[in-house]
Amino acid sequence: MSTARYIAAIDQGTTSSRCVIVNDSATKVGSAQKEFKQHFPQPGWVEHDANDIWETTSNVVFAALDQAGLTIADLAGLGITNQRETTVVWDRETGQPVHRAIVWQDLRTDALVKRLAEDGGVDRFRGITGLPLSTYFSGLKLRWLFDHDPELQQRAEAGELCFGTIDSWLIFKLTGEHATDVTNASRTMLMNLRTLEWDADILETLNIPAAMLPRIRPSSGHFGTGIGDFEGIEVAAALGDQHAALLGQRCFRAGDTKNTYGTGSFLVMNTGTELHSSKHGLLSTVAYQIEGQPAHYALEGSIAHTGALIQWLRDEIGLISHAADTEELAAAVDDTGGAYIVPAFSGLFAPHWKSDARGTICGLTRFVRREHLVRAALEAACWQTRDVIEAMTADTGTALDALYVDGGMTVNELFLQLQADIAGVPVVRPANPETTVLGAAYAAGIATGVWDSLEALEELDIETQTWEPKSDRDADYPQWKKAVTKSDGWVE
Ligand code: G3P
Repeated sequence: MSTARYIAAIDQGTTSSRCVIVNDSATKVGSAQKEFKQHFPQPGWVEHDANDIWETTSNVVFAALDQAGLTIADLAGLGITNQRETTVVWDRETGQPVHRAIVWQDLRTDALVKRLAEDGGVDRFRGITGLPLSTYFSGLKLRWLFDHDPELQQRAEAGELCFGTIDSWLIFKLTGEHATDVTNASRTMLMNLRTLEWDADILETLNIPAAMLPRIRPSSGHFGTGIGDFEGIEVAAALGDQHAALLGQRCFRAGDTKNTYGTGSFLVMNTGTELHSSKHGLLSTVAYQIEGQPAHYALEGSIAHTGALIQWLRDEIGLISHAADTEELAAAVDDTGGAYIVPAFSGLFAPHWKSDARGTICGLTRFVRREHLVRAALEAACWQTRDVIEAMTADTGTALDALYVDGGMTVNELFLQLQADIAGVPVVRPANPETTVLGAAYAAGIATGVWDSLEALEELDIETQTWEPKSDRDADYPQWKKAVTKSDGWVE
């Protein structure tokens, strides 16, 4: 086992690649980040160049090491966390992608979803995979690629091509191994959540060749040893970014729940070693798995647009100049003046899953001013979060003790108070908001002996701040629900 005490954690996200180096107190000693190009070849399509992803990722690892004054030899290991569901196919021999990566947000498989749902409905694979049929997950993106280039199907059957989500792509480039972890595999709609193996029946139904699939491994464990510039480095963890944030928030017990507020928001509740099948519009997924231990499962509520509404008010409407202005503006009024905004810009995800919903603003009177609308935009994130929390409670019978929060919007303290009031639970924010990279670092640190176990991580001194509910907002909840119904079914 290595005596080095530093860990490199890569966070390969939707718009940028980031690397943070931490020491064995989980303190950041170096970091670097690089954005890369987004490709929008048609309305609703979103693509990435997988080579851009690899280049920016390898650059930020060395830039972060430089900043820390360290080299690869100082690292006990490297952990990867990543944007999930984004689909890459590459040539096993040359290591070159055969197509641009199809990003999780991409809607091109819409017709395929509808076609597949004709036989058994959108939940036809839910019992096995925990997921409804949706444009979101990787399996259908892969099917789309084959439908549009049948030669790729033949090459995949001959074993010439590799499929992977971003974790697999990076593991392949770093080590030459073709592997993924249970959390990323759980987002493909191809893995059986109970056996943690590719599901032969689903592969057959979707006509996906098993020969191109990576080996599924625990999230914290041995993925391979670095080659080339990364010679000798131990790749010791891989997990999807929302799963990493759950670990980074130290939500290790059943019932512990985190919410990451980015462009959208992702609530994840640890359900322990028990797999809960949702009856209330949530996804069942793997939370994480430490090598040699059973997998922990989670329920996830993915919300499509939260921070995106603030960006829209800033960039498209010009109601605010900076996202940070929302705190002062919203504090200038006592409430939203009766206004509600439902930011269903491209439909609603959890718990509604309405692709035909569109955004709406309700309850306008001449009394409503800019400040009220800004406050309503913040509350929209809070109410959507409450919808998901209600679904989690209905599915598990467990009420939340607290909501652990991170992500861009959590710098706004008025927003955190609104969230505590609207959800009716204490909201807890860690002093170090980098929970996603921390989760990858924890997973890699456990695999390489920097920390003994999850329990050892609980000993780390990590400061948090809590917002307790101060006013009861239950009476406003029916009005929010009514606003959601107004957005529903807008697209014929
Ligand atoms: O499921 C998509 C999610 O993993 C993307 O996260 O933070 O890269 O936008 P992010």
